[in-house]
Amino acid sequence: MRILLYRADGNTGPWIEDFARWLPEAEMVAWQEGADCGPCDYAITWGAPEPALKELAKVKAIFLGGAGADAILKHEDAIPRHVPIVRLGDAGMAIQMAEYVLHAVLRYFRRFDEYEAQARAGQWSPLPQHSREDFAIGVLGAGVLGSRVLDALKPFGFPLHAWSRSAKQIEGVRCHHGEEGLDALLRKARVLVCMLPLTPDTANLLNRTNLGKLPQGAYLINVARGAHVAEPDLLTLMKSGHIAGATLDVFRNEPLPVQHPFWQEPRITITPHISALTQRSESVQQIADKIRKLEKGETIADVVNREQGY
Ligand code: NAP
Ligand code: GLV
Repeated sequence: MRILLYRADGNTGPWIEDFARWLPEAEMVAWQEGADCGPCDYAITWGAPEPALKELAKVKAIFLGGAGADAILKHEDAIPRHVPIVRLGDAGMAIQMAEYVLHAVLRYFRRFDEYEAQARAGQWSPLPQHSREDFAIGVLGAGVLGSRVLDALKPFGFPLHAWSRSAKQIEGVRCHHGEEGLDALLRKARVLVCMLPLTPDTANLLNRTNLGKLPQGAYLINVARGAHVAEPDLLTLMKSGHIAGATLDVFRNEPLPVQHPFWQEPRITITPHISALTQRSESVQQIADKIRKLEKGETIADVVNREQGY
């Protein structure tokens, strides 16, 4: 069995070592532009450079080194429909998302963002507490990562809401779906957490109209994709005071350009797309298991639905 490996950072060595441990029967081939990689059974990639696409089109399945499929689906037309695209399902990312979102929610609930600003200005001034009942959290996307985040929030007693494509029942969470469901969630959520995949249906969802439905003084946490947010609309709503703060891990252009106005807005907390990092060893084990199943003709989880775009 031959497996083609592409990594944008070129650091294929540690991945090849892990595959030697978890799938020793496979010969790993690091993709290099211009080099003949020969016939491969499977490919492991994230996005793919244009010249690699014709190799990806020939394999039995393409495995992604992440949860989101938007980067590879930009090249959808180059990948025949019979080639499954398989994303990572958790593989160590869900707990990191839970840590990240919980930290941001508690920071806003306990007003630590304001105390940080006060401390920088040498001020000692206790602020009124936020009320827990009025601090509803709305999570957009209740999939692998969203549901783990909801679980992490449960012990704190905030009213919890979730929005998904299909109707769901999650204990302790008010579940919404469809357009009406989105409206209901937005009107309640004091903190809006975006955990959606980026698809034609979800791009620009966090625009002036939708963010404007949030209660006055709401907070936004975006850990999904930058293109979910209409960036100028967010800035307008922050300047008017409608949105009190935002924690953003993802951006339309990454790295976020130095001249981007987000850097100048002190109420925006910026992190460099680190909310849930790919865990190499867990990912390799998961991919190795899935490859073994496919070789035995069994079905596997986390196959991207091309119609739905995630
Ligand atoms: P997932 O398991 O596929 O869950 C996606 C959720 O979004 C599902 O609940 C789905 O609804 C819902 N959804 C999709 N389209 C929708 C629509 N049009 N309307 C309403 N709900 C919709 O994905 P995941 O593993 O949780 O990952 C989510 C995203 O997180 C990834 O796509 C990726 O972009 C992002 N991510 C970011 C980082 C980071 O470091 N910043 C790391 C990992 C992942 P159904 O349940 O009805 O299908
Ligand atoms: C990271 O952003 C991922 O989708 O895994």
